[in-house]
Amino acid sequence: MSDRLPVYVLNGPNLNLLGVREPDIYGRETLADVQALCERAAGDATVVFRQTNHEGELIDWVHEAREKASALVINAAGYTHTSVALLDALKTLTIPVVECHLSNPAARERFRHRSYVSAVAAGVVSGFGPFSYELAVRAALRLAQERRAAADRSV
Ligand code: DQA
Repeated sequence: MSDRLPVYVLNGPNLNLLGVREPDIYGRETLADVQALCERAAGDATVVFRQTNHEGELIDWVHEAREKASALVINAAGYTHTSVALLDALKTLTIPVVECHLSNPAARERFRHRSYVSAVAAGVVSGFGPFSYELAVRAALRLAQERRAAADRSV
Protein backbone atom coordinates (compact mmCIF):
# COMPACT_ATOMS: atom_id res chain seq x y z
CA MET A 1 0.00 0.00 0.00
CA SER A 2 1.25 3.48 -0.81
CA ASP A 3 -0.02 6.94 -0.02
CA ARG A 4 1.23 7.87 -3.48
CA LEU A 5 -1.66 5.97 -4.98
CA PRO A 6 -4.66 8.21 -5.69
CA VAL A 7 -7.52 8.87 -3.34
CA TYR A 8 -10.75 7.60 -4.85
CA VAL A 9 -13.82 9.79 -4.35
CA LEU A 10 -16.90 7.80 -5.40
CA ASN A 11 -20.38 9.25 -5.69
CA GLY A 12 -23.67 7.41 -5.93
CA PRO A 13 -27.05 8.04 -7.55
CA ASN A 14 -28.54 11.45 -8.30
CA LEU A 15 -25.40 13.33 -7.31
CA ASN A 16 -24.91 14.15 -11.00
CA LEU A 17 -27.85 16.52 -10.48
CA LEU A 18 -26.15 18.43 -7.71
CA GLY A 19 -26.90 22.15 -8.05
CA VAL A 20 -30.42 21.62 -9.40
CA ARG A 21 -31.62 18.74 -7.20
CA GLU A 22 -33.36 19.88 -3.98
CA PRO A 23 -31.07 22.91 -3.66
CA ASP A 24 -32.51 23.77 -0.25
CA ILE A 25 -30.94 20.56 1.04
CA TYR A 26 -27.95 20.01 -1.23
CA GLY A 27 -27.05 23.56 -2.26
CA ARG A 28 -26.36 25.22 -5.61
CA GLU A 29 -22.84 23.97 -6.22
CA THR A 30 -22.44 21.33 -8.92
CA LEU A 31 -20.60 18.03 -8.76
CA ALA A 32 -17.89 19.61 -10.93
CA ASP A 33 -17.48 22.28 -8.22
CA VAL A 34 -17.18 19.53 -5.60
CA GLN A 35 -14.59 17.73 -7.71
CA ALA A 36 -12.51 20.92 -7.98
CA LEU A 37 -12.75 21.35 -4.20
CA CYS A 38 -11.52 17.78 -3.66
CA GLU A 39 -8.62 18.28 -6.04
CA ARG A 40 -7.60 21.47 -4.22
CA ALA A 41 -7.89 19.74 -0.85
CA ALA A 42 -5.68 16.88 -2.06
CA GLY A 43 -2.78 19.19 -2.95
CA ASP A 44 -0.08 17.05 -4.61
CA ALA A 45 -2.06 13.83 -4.27
CA THR A 46 -4.11 12.57 -7.19
CA VAL A 47 -7.89 12.31 -6.91
CA VAL A 48 -9.93 9.84 -8.96
CA PHE A 49 -13.42 11.35 -8.83
CA ARG A 50 -16.43 9.47 -10.23
CA GLN A 51 -20.21 9.37 -10.08
CA THR A 52 -22.67 6.68 -11.11
CA ASN A 53 -26.39 6.04 -10.86
CA HIS A 54 -25.82 2.26 -10.92
CA GLU A 55 -25.19 0.11 -7.87
CA GLY A 56 -23.14 -2.51 -9.76
CA GLU A 57 -20.86 0.13 -11.25
CA LEU A 58 -20.27 1.64 -7.82
CA ILE A 59 -19.34 -1.83 -6.54
CA ASP A 60 -16.98 -2.39 -9.50
CA TRP A 61 -15.21 0.85 -8.62
CA VAL A 62 -14.89 -0.20 -4.97
CA HIS A 63 -13.22 -3.40 -6.21
CA GLU A 64 -10.91 -1.33 -8.41
CA ALA A 65 -9.97 0.80 -5.40
CA ARG A 66 -8.71 -2.35 -3.61
CA GLU A 67 -5.62 -2.32 -5.81
CA LYS A 68 -5.42 1.22 -7.11
CA ALA A 69 -6.27 3.59 -4.24
CA SER A 70 -4.56 4.64 -1.04
CA ALA A 71 -7.90 5.58 0.53
CA LEU A 72 -11.56 5.87 -0.40
CA VAL A 73 -14.02 8.70 0.18
CA ILE A 74 -17.55 7.58 -0.60
CA ASN A 75 -20.88 9.35 -0.78
CA ALA A 76 -23.07 6.41 -1.69
CA ALA A 77 -26.16 8.69 -1.64
CA GLY A 78 -29.36 6.59 -1.48
CA TYR A 79 -27.37 3.31 -1.54
CA THR A 80 -25.94 4.31 1.84
CA HIS A 81 -29.23 3.33 3.41
CA THR A 82 -30.09 0.25 1.34
CA SER A 83 -27.14 -1.61 -0.12
CA VAL A 84 -25.88 -4.74 1.60
CA ALA A 85 -24.02 -5.53 -1.64
CA LEU A 86 -22.11 -2.26 -1.34
CA LEU A 87 -21.30 -3.02 2.30
CA ASP A 88 -19.98 -6.46 1.27
CA ALA A 89 -17.76 -4.83 -1.36
CA LEU A 90 -16.46 -2.25 1.12
CA LYS A 91 -15.63 -5.06 3.56
CA THR A 92 -13.09 -6.40 1.05
CA LEU A 93 -11.00 -3.22 1.34
CA THR A 94 -7.95 -2.85 3.53
CA ILE A 95 -7.50 0.86 2.73
CA PRO A 96 -9.17 3.53 4.90
CA VAL A 97 -12.75 4.43 4.01
CA VAL A 98 -14.28 7.82 4.84
CA GLU A 99 -18.05 8.18 4.50
CA CYS A 100 -19.19 11.58 3.26
CA HIS A 101 -22.54 13.34 2.93
CA LEU A 102 -23.51 16.87 1.96
CA SER A 103 -26.52 16.87 4.27
CA ASN A 104 -26.73 15.38 7.75
CA PRO A 105 -28.75 12.19 7.28
CA ALA A 106 -29.04 11.73 11.05
CA ALA A 107 -31.12 14.92 11.22
CA ARG A 108 -33.43 13.89 8.35
CA GLU A 109 -36.07 11.20 7.78
CA ARG A 110 -35.82 8.04 9.84
CA PHE A 111 -34.97 5.82 6.84
CA ARG A 112 -31.78 7.86 6.37
CA HIS A 113 -30.57 7.14 9.89
CA ARG A 114 -29.26 3.70 9.00
CA SER A 115 -26.02 3.64 7.03
CA TYR A 116 -24.52 0.40 5.73
CA VAL A 117 -21.37 2.33 4.85
CA SER A 118 -20.75 3.47 8.44
CA ALA A 119 -20.16 -0.16 9.46
CA VAL A 120 -16.82 -0.12 7.61
CA ALA A 121 -15.92 3.59 7.62
CA ALA A 122 -13.04 4.94 9.67
CA GLY A 123 -15.19 8.04 10.12
CA VAL A 124 -18.12 10.01 8.73
CA VAL A 125 -18.25 13.64 7.58
CA SER A 126 -21.75 14.96 7.00
CA GLY A 127 -23.80 18.11 7.08
CA PHE A 128 -21.31 20.66 5.79
CA GLY A 129 -22.30 20.74 2.11
CA PRO A 130 -19.33 20.55 -0.27
CA PHE A 131 -17.03 21.30 2.68
CA SER A 132 -17.83 17.75 3.88
CA TYR A 133 -15.86 16.51 0.87
CA GLU A 134 -12.89 18.75 1.63
CA LEU A 135 -12.76 17.45 5.18
CA ALA A 136 -13.26 13.85 4.03
CA VAL A 137 -10.41 14.05 1.49
CA ARG A 138 -8.10 15.55 4.10
CA ALA A 139 -9.02 12.81 6.59
CA ALA A 140 -8.53 10.09 3.96
CA LEU A 141 -5.08 11.42 3.04
CA ARG A 142 -4.09 11.61 6.69
CA LEU A 143 -5.20 8.03 7.33
CA ALA A 144 -3.36 6.76 4.24
CA GLN A 145 -0.21 8.58 5.36
CA GLU A 146 -0.47 7.09 8.85
CA ARG A 147 -0.87 3.60 7.37
CA ARG A 148 2.23 4.08 5.25
CA ALA A 149 4.26 5.36 8.19
CA ALA A 150 3.18 2.35 10.27
CA ALA A 151 4.09 -0.03 7.41
CA ASP A 152 7.52 1.63 7.03
CA ARG A 153 8.16 1.27 10.78
CA SER A 154 7.36 -2.44 10.68
CA VAL A 155 10.03 -3.31 8.05
C1 DQA B 1 -26.73 12.20 0.70
C2 DQA B 1 -27.76 11.86 1.77
C3 DQA B 1 -28.60 10.65 1.35
O1 DQA B 1 -29.57 10.36 2.35
C4 DQA B 1 -29.33 10.94 0.05
O2 DQA B 1 -30.01 9.79 -0.38
C5 DQA B 1 -28.43 11.48 -1.01
C6 DQA B 1 -27.37 12.41 -0.66
C7 DQA B 1 -25.95 13.48 1.05
O3 DQA B 1 -24.89 13.69 0.46
O4 DQA B 1 -26.40 14.27 1.87
O5 DQA B 1 -28.64 11.22 -2.19
O6 DQA B 1 -25.80 11.15 0.63
